[in-house]
Amino acid sequence: MSINFAGLTLNNPYLAASGCFGYGGELENIFQNQKWGGCVSKTITVEKRDGNPPPRIFETEGGIINRIGLQNCGLTNFLSKELPRIKNLPYPVIVSIFGNTIDEWKTLLTTLEENNVPAVELNLSCPNLKGEVVVRNIDLCTNIVRELKKISGIPVIAKINAIYSPVELSCGLKEAGIDGIVCSNTFPAGVYHNGKFYEGGLSGPAIKPVVLKTIFKIKENVDIDLAACGGIWNSSDIEDYRSAGARAFVLGSVLLTNPDTISDFTTAF
Ligand SMILES: Cc1cc2nc3c(=O)[nH]c(=O)nc-3n(C[C@H](O)[C@H](O)[C@H](O)COP(=O)(O)O)c2cc1C
Repeated sequence: MSINFAGLTLNNPYLAASGCFGYGGELENIFQNQKWGGCVSKTITVEKRDGNPPPRIFETEGGIINRIGLQNCGLTNFLSKELPRIKNLPYPVIVSIFGNTIDEWKTLLTTLEENNVPAVELNLSCPNLKGEVVVRNIDLCTNIVRELKKISGIPVIAKINAIYSPVELSCGLKEAGIDGIVCSNTFPAGVYHNGKFYEGGLSGPAIKPVVLKTIFKIKENVDIDLAACGGIWNSSDIEDYRSAGARAFVLGSVLLTNPDTISDFTTAF
């Protein structure tokens, strides 16, 4: 079942999604030797971020809405506290990054590469930050990728959003030299909680039909290694995404209901 995805050799095509499995190593004490093909860390930024105050996760129809706000320990703490732990895992951990400026993107990439991280995923698509969602600006995204590919020797993967011009963006990213694309991040959504309105990102089975169509359309138009992420709950979701053209399958919210889902997946196939 081993595959080559975006220049990485993975033991199987299943990956844990960014933000749904910590930095990658936290659960190793509870579920040893998990049979992931790979895992994507929680997104890290140059500076530490506290994220939004609670409440940050809400159950909703067909999924969940989160407004974590990119809480993370920052690059320096990641290198000293998290990296030693994830280096010993039996699967590669792709580090998800987000920069506020092109220089920040470069700092994150070069520092991680110097520390032997096998690949990075660019979080171009977080919907719940104040200001612009990077992914809505195709020129900005392609420029970031072009600049990073000039200085990088490791695979660079882009995490995009199924609802913001995904086909056009994927064409641009391919031209800019991207090694693989993960679709999709969460969709902008809203919820009332105790009488107060909150905005956040929707994930889970509710988004799968939209992501499925997007995977199909990207595959129809762009020759690129494509990973599906959105509402994967069981083997029939995998088969749908495989038929639409995905080569790897990224499990997100399902891990919040069962962090050991990968055991069921790897025995079912
Ligand atoms: C609690 C939570 C935190 C998340 N944090 C991140 C993150 O830090 N970076 C990122 O790129 N995506 C993040 N995501 C999005 C997931 O990686 C995934 O793209 C999305 O949830 C869709 O997949 P799913 O329907 O299987 O959950 C997060 C999702 C959830 C539910």
